[in-house]
Amino acid sequence: MISKSGIRVVAVSDYEELSREAARRIIAAVRQHPASVLGLATGSTPEGTYRELVRDHQEKGTSYRRVTTFNLDEYVGLAADNPHSYHAYMEQHLFRHLDISRERTHLPDGMAGEPEAECRGYEEMIRKTGGIDLQVLGIGVNGHIGFNEPGTPFSSETQVVRLTESTRQANQIHFEDPKQVPTHAITMGLATIFRSRSILLLASGAKKAPVIRRLLTEAEITPALPASILRSHRDVTLIADQEALSQVGSSLD
Ligand code: F6R
Repeated sequence: MISKSGIRVVAVSDYEELSREAARRIIAAVRQHPASVLGLATGSTPEGTYRELVRDHQEKGTSYRRVTTFNLDEYVGLAADNPHSYHAYMEQHLFRHLDISRERTHLPDGMAGEPEAECRGYEEMIRKTGGIDLQVLGIGVNGHIGFNEPGTPFSSETQVVRLTESTRQANQIHFEDPKQVPTHAITMGLATIFRSRSILLLASGAKKAPVIRRLLTEAEITPALPASILRSHRDVTLIADQEALSQVGSSLD
């Protein structure tokens, strides 16, 4: 269903169905174009999707040998082997279970000596690979995508950002000590994300209901709600469960 916002909405019952539906779409893309370039997210939301991709790979043999991936972001100051890093997350939830070639998996280097150069290099690498075919996104309760917090210009490319307190708090669950949550990250910018040919936005749970209501029903496309940039993209599908859609009501009709 296309909502008034211009975003295609696929309503599912719960997190399990969301995970299966997202995985089904990613698998279809990879089967159709075995050399697909995928943009990937971390966080709680895509964990089930990755579990389904792994299961499909093991049971049905979908191959990722020719797939290239670019992750949205990485914390500054965490090395790839730090268990809290997004490098480690991707290894644990996806890469180590697939036949993907490690040289074709990319995340920003949170330990780069020259972070600005790292950002430019990351952007360049995406461009040289021909751009992202299918970008998977989660959404923050404040409307961030990647780590592009409210106020980030729509023209932003891969950059170093300071995390807001709300984002640091939301991510505390993944750390033993709240003080360990890094203060900065490297993230693809909003323009980088927008250049993806196709976008799959995932939202699950009651916590996401207010931001999904804002995204689908508020009139304005504004940097105050970074995800609102997606409303002017030609090919965005939001897969959201009942809880995440619980404040949208009849405005989807
Ligand atoms: C993750 C990312 C973030 C998350 C968002 C939602 O790579 O860039 O934008 O997608 O914070 O996180 P969860 O899924 O944990 O609610």
